[in-house]
Amino acid sequence: MSNLLEILEHHGIKGKIVSTTEGPLLNIIEFLPDFGTRIKTIKSLTEDIRRELCVKSLKIEQPEFSNKISFQIAKDTFDIIDFSENIKSKEFEKAKEDYTLPILIGADIYGIPLFQDLSKMPHLLVAGTTGSGKSVGLNTFILSLIASKTPNEVKFVLIDPKKVEFSVYNNQKYQYCPVITETNEAVSILSHLAEIMDERYELFNKHQVKNINYYNQISPQKLPYIICVIDEFADLMAFEKSIDENVIRLAQKSRAAGIHLILATQRPSADVITGLLKANCPARISYKVASALYSRIILNENGGEDLIGRGDSYFLRADGKIIRVHGAYIDDSGIKSMLEPYRCTIKHKITIADKKDSVSETTKEKPSALLRFAKFWLKLSRKDRDLIIRAIKYIFTFIVNYIKDNKKLKRTKK
Ligand SMILES: Nc1ncnc2c1ncn2[C@@H]1O[C@H](COP(=O)(O)OP(=O)(O)O)[C@@H](O)[C@H]1O
Ligand SMILES: [Mg+2]
Repeated sequence: MSNLLEILEHHGIKGKIVSTTEGPLLNIIEFLPDFGTRIKTIKSLTEDIRRELCVKSLKIEQPEFSNKISFQIAKDTFDIIDFSENIKSKEFEKAKEDYTLPILIGADIYGIPLFQDLSKMPHLLVAGTTGSGKSVGLNTFILSLIASKTPNEVKFVLIDPKKVEFSVYNNQKYQYCPVITETNEAVSILSHLAEIMDERYELFNKHQVKNINYYNQISPQKLPYIICVIDEFADLMAFEKSIDENVIRLAQKSRAAGIHLILATQRPSADVITGLLKANCPARISYKVASALYSRIILNENGGEDLIGRGDSYFLRADGKIIRVHGAYIDDSGIKSMLEPYRCTIKHKITIADKKDSVSETTKEKPSALLRFAKFWLKLSRKDRDLIIRAIKYIFTFIVNYIKDNKKLKRTKK
């Protein structure tokens, strides 16, 4: 890449190229600058260098524990990270041994698969514009767990307001209940999960254990992990505010009870990804997002807006480190054939009909503040009402006098 050297020299940056590697989506050039070169200067030239190289995307990074600078240039044609190949890899075998809930996040820039433990995350927030690869990503996360756990160990609650993404998962042994597509059903299943969480805590208390892991070690009747996946989370929240409350409640407490959330949205605005939600979901993935603002909301940094799309992403690890990851790909027929051995017609313990009652309970409107005050006022005895009125009068005259005195004091000072 003498071209890059020439361009850099033109901008007054001298050094040498140490290595050039071809990854699945990017060419990575490691550059060792001459002593005294400031990385800030090079980074500030990113846009100019990208234009002069005539490439679609360029990222300049400073790898940890290295004095080199890495130029990551998008390739014209991408290699697909094949999901089915990755779950046959020896890395997956190791992840199955080491992790409670191993999921394949994708491959790093060099094509090495990256597995993480969902039980430690303990929840995952996913953002990206339409067509950036969210749904494909969610499928690979679900299928990683299916490939590593039995239907008795893991159960899924899949919520899909778009109605098409998860329908393939219906009628198989890993489902906790049929795929949820209606808002009211989503509300009730989330409050049901919150109840399950409380029940499990009571059970752990009785057996004096801290979490599901310890409980499953001592009890002959093992509890399954429950993974709740919501595609297009913002769409649901727009219709029903109580979804937000239940999601936050689960996000805050459900880890020890073995309930984990994976939430995806195409609109990671501050009203959807609230501070409280972010605090409880430190692990996040940003596929290509619409703006730098969205990127800062999901990753706490710019960069998500410059991703290439088609599964290209940044993974924010729970410890705060950001890694560039290319999502694995599986097509519909691949998903079907992976689910084939588990097909069955199951009678679910909770059916949508059961949930209807709890919906009406949870969505019951709360009385307005004015109405509540009126009720409170009527309940009071006449003597109490007089006392309150007298107290308000006293406070009011006190405040008026205080303001008057203050004004007088200012005038005399002048
Ligand atoms: N990891 C990937 N590798 C290759 N192509 C991908 C990948 N993820 C997504 N795509 C392509 O992008 C399209 C849109 O992906 P999808 O997951 O449906 O996007 P979203 O749910 O964000 O709207 C897919 O149909 C596929 O062609
Ligand atoms: Mg989608």
